[in-house]
Amino acid sequence: MAETPSILVVDDKRDLARGVALVLAASTPDITACFSAEEALAHLDERPRDLVLSDIRMPGLDGHALLALVRSRWPQTRVVLLTAFGTVESAVEAMKQGAYDYLTKPFDNDELVLVVRRALDEIAARRELERLRAEIAARKGWHGLHTVDPRMRPVIETVRKVAGAQASVLVCGESGTGKELVARAVHAESTRAARPFLAFSAAALPETLAEAELFGARKGSFTGADRDRRGLFADAHGGTLFIDELSSMSPALQGKLLRVLQERAIVPLGQSTPVPVDVRIVAATNVDPRRLVRDGALRADLYYRLAVVRIQIPALRERAEDISLLATLFLERAASTAGRPGLRLSSRALRLLYAHDWPGNVRELQNVMERAALLAAGDEVGPADIALDDFDEPGLDDGVGAADFGAGEAAGTYEDAKRRALERFQRRYVERLLATTGGNVSAAARAAGLTRAALHRILNRLGLGPGEADESDESTPPGA
Ligand SMILES: Nc1ncnc2c1ncn2[C@@H]1O[C@H](COP(=O)(O)OP(=O)(O)OP(=O)(O)O)[C@@H](O)[C@H]1O
Ligand SMILES: [Mg+2]
Repeated sequence: MAETPSILVVDDKRDLARGVALVLAASTPDITACFSAEEALAHLDERPRDLVLSDIRMPGLDGHALLALVRSRWPQTRVVLLTAFGTVESAVEAMKQGAYDYLTKPFDNDELVLVVRRALDEIAARRELERLRAEIAARKGWHGLHTVDPRMRPVIETVRKVAGAQASVLVCGESGTGKELVARAVHAESTRAARPFLAFSAAALPETLAEAELFGARKGSFTGADRDRRGLFADAHGGTLFIDELSSMSPALQGKLLRVLQERAIVPLGQSTPVPVDVRIVAATNVDPRRLVRDGALRADLYYRLAVVRIQIPALRERAEDISLLATLFLERAASTAGRPGLRLSSRALRLLYAHDWPGNVRELQNVMERAALLAAGDEVGPADIALDDFDEPGLDDGVGAADFGAGEAAGTYEDAKRRALERFQRRYVERLLATTGGNVSAAARAAGLTRAALHRILNRLGLGPGEADESDESTPPGA
């Protein structure tokens, strides 16, 4: 990781602080010099540093006190103490307290540079190790989420960051991108992990039933209420409630949900006294929520309340590196269920997967691999075993994955709709074309009556550029 290491130099003798900073300028551009421990703490509060070089004897807080504070508040920060001749004992003491090293004044520049370089090398090594650990964890799965594509990194980082907070979270992403998995990860990473995670969807529920399901109802409060219901809010008390497909809730029900979020209390149907609840909401939508607000399918006030933290999961077609990882994972799982361990994915089949636009995202890939595991004749899944759907999932009305002339086309400007339709046509055409030539671009260009350059341009525009659809059969696909 090429992150710039940062250094803070602290010495009440201003010339000395400035001089040290000057000498170290060659080691990193991110150096700040300051003249007291108090000042140093203010700098660290503002932004932690990798390395602090501090004098020991200073008016006010001395170097030892600064060391102790840094050790407890910024445990990742290394501290090197600079001590005047004659205070070697206190420097030794400092080492015991956890200083990284010390330099006895007067020190020469080479000595200084050497100690600092050693510390910075160690810091860089530790960072790299952390990055690798995170990558391995993602590959092995993190709360069931497997990913290696850098485009998923912000998703995981945001989940980590916000899990501890109590704020509502809005998870956005096309159908099958893993919204529920992400919602579960938020719960599992939070202090609520030991309490229930419950999921709710208003889809296909009559209004009153949906309300009773969420907030509870007294027996006899509506037709069919043959018993008291506690409701999901009460059942999820202390935990997390996942509200799937927000737009399937009626505006009235959305209003009631908003009130619960504001007042932290529910009023069960047929009851007049509110009951306090402590539930964190994670909501999901597979359509751009701002569009839902514009179309009147999502109340703006509820949107603003929920979108305090918004997590956008990229579509599978936008994270090429996950295609091979997930294809392999799902094939492995399906193969072992089918009693066919060792079943492998051929590079030609993988190429087909790269060329597909995955309107059903990860779920679609999972289904395709499950089918492939059953269809494959030998010990390898070939292109013929990959059955890709010709039409996209219904219900996706954002135009990206809609059926040939789906709801998306009717929305937006003519030019937008045309661009989407054209892109969809190109994707399908190229996908089939490459399938018939086993991914060979030159042969595909010949068959299509295009120049190789023209076909490459189309491939690049579709995000299927070299690497994803290379003409060499043995080339390694990304993420493989
Ligand atoms: N990164 C991933 N690693 C492993 N499995 C995944 C990943 N993302 C999604 N899946 C799997 O894909 C399927 C769909 O995921 P999930 O139900 O979370 O998607 P969704 O966005 O909620 O879909 P929908 O919009 O249809 O409700 C699930 O079986 C899930 O386990
Ligand atoms: Mg879902």
